[in-house]
Formats: sequence, structure tokens, C-alpha cells
Amino acid sequence: MPNSRQARDEPENRAPVERIRPHVQRFNGAITDRDRAALLGHMPVTVWLTGLSGAGKSTIAFHLERELMSMGHACYVLDGDNIRHGLTSDLGFSKEDRRENIRRVAHVARLMNDAGLIVIAALISPMREDREMACAIIGNDSFVETYVAASANDCAKRDPKGLYAKAQAGIIESFTGVTAPYEPPENPELLVDTATLTEAASVSCVLEYLRERFLVLRR
Ligand code: ADX
Repeated sequence: MPNSRQARDEPENRAPVERIRPHVQRFNGAITDRDRAALLGHMPVTVWLTGLSGAGKSTIAFHLERELMSMGHACYVLDGDNIRHGLTSDLGFSKEDRRENIRRVAHVARLMNDAGLIVIAALISPMREDREMACAIIGNDSFVETYVAASANDCAKRDPKGLYAKAQAGIIESFTGVTAPYEPPENPELLVDTATLTEAASVSCVLEYLRERFLVLRR
């Protein structure tokens, strides 16, 4: 597997919104990703769950975290709803604010990956361009784009937080899938169809994939 740190630091992988600061230089330590994987039993990747509100991202994320922890893998969930109470509490749901939300979370994910954690990010992240930015920040080799697929109709029927009803009644503006766009990934690394899979099967699907790619080495 190529050294993902090298790939991440190539200029073309830098997020377009980020400025190059002439007097601030990076300092790379001597520890490689392979060194970390040998010690940790996993590659510290980010499983990026994208999909509509109510598609099952948070459910899968926290269940997957439990499974990975029980196998001895250090991991952490970055959940959009939770992060919006702190790190991104100044942001709303305009196109620009969502992009900034995703940019900040991607940087946190990268730092956590650098520290050796598997990160499970659960964000609607509705625009392809913004997910590409997240991938560029985190690094292509460390970014596992996972589409948690469920139609807007199915999500509106589930409506676990009652938000679709509010969006349809005009109480919430720019609600993804109702009055704001969602661009499904064209070529996701992994697709989890929660309309047909149970919660347990959805989690197994992600876990199996991580094992197949030797990103998770323990059983
Ligand atoms: S993202 O679009 O910027 O990626 P994020 O995943 O952080 O969104 O937050 C989505 C969560 O915020 C939803 O699950 C929902 O609970 C809540 N929310 C509140 N308003 C909106 C809205 N207008 N559109 C989508 N989600 C919203």
C-alpha cells in the first residue's frame, strides 16, 4: 500500500478552499502509516458515511464503532448532529456553511487518523464537490466513501426526528432531500442499502469490506 502521507501532501490533493501559507511549513515525523498499522492492527482510515438525514448513518456509525472497539480497534465517531453542537455550532445549512462544516470535520478526521484512530464520519455531505474536498484533505488512500442509500421517500416515512414533516410544512428551510439537493456518489467505494439491509447486516457489510482491504487486521 502506498504511503498515504505522501499522497496527501501532494499539492493537487490540497483542498481548493485552503490557502498556502508561505511561512508555515509542514514537519513530517519519521513514523510511517505502515509502522502505525503494525502496532495498531488496522490502517487508520476514515469511513465517510454520506446519505440523507434518516438514512441510517448515525445508527451504522455507532454500531460499527462498538464492533470495532470490541475487536480491540481504537476508533471514534464524528457525527454531524453531535459536531454541530460544538466545533461547527456557528454554521447553518447553506451551501457554504455545509462546505465549511465538512472541511472542518475532514481536518479533524485527518488529525485523528494521524494519531492512529479509525474514524467513522457520519455527515449528510450532500455535494459531490464537498466530498471530494474531504477526500483531498484526508487522503485518497485513507478515505472510504460509503453511501448509506435510502430514498427521500423512505427517509420521510421513517422520519425519526420529525424533521421531514417540518421541512414539508415549511418550518425548516433548505432541508436535504426536500428543499435542498443531495447528489448521490456516482462511484462510492461501498454502498449500504438500508432499505433492504438490517442494521446488523449494514454494519457487517462495512466491516467485511474493511477486512477484505486489509484495513482492519483483527477478527
Ligand atoms: S451537512 O449537510 O452539513 O453534512 P450534517 O450531517 O452536519 O449536514 O447535519 C445534518 C443533521 O442536521 C441532520 O441529520 C438533521 O438532524 C439536522 N438538520 C437540521 N436542519 C437541517 C437541514 N436544513 N438539512 C439537513 N439536515 C438538517
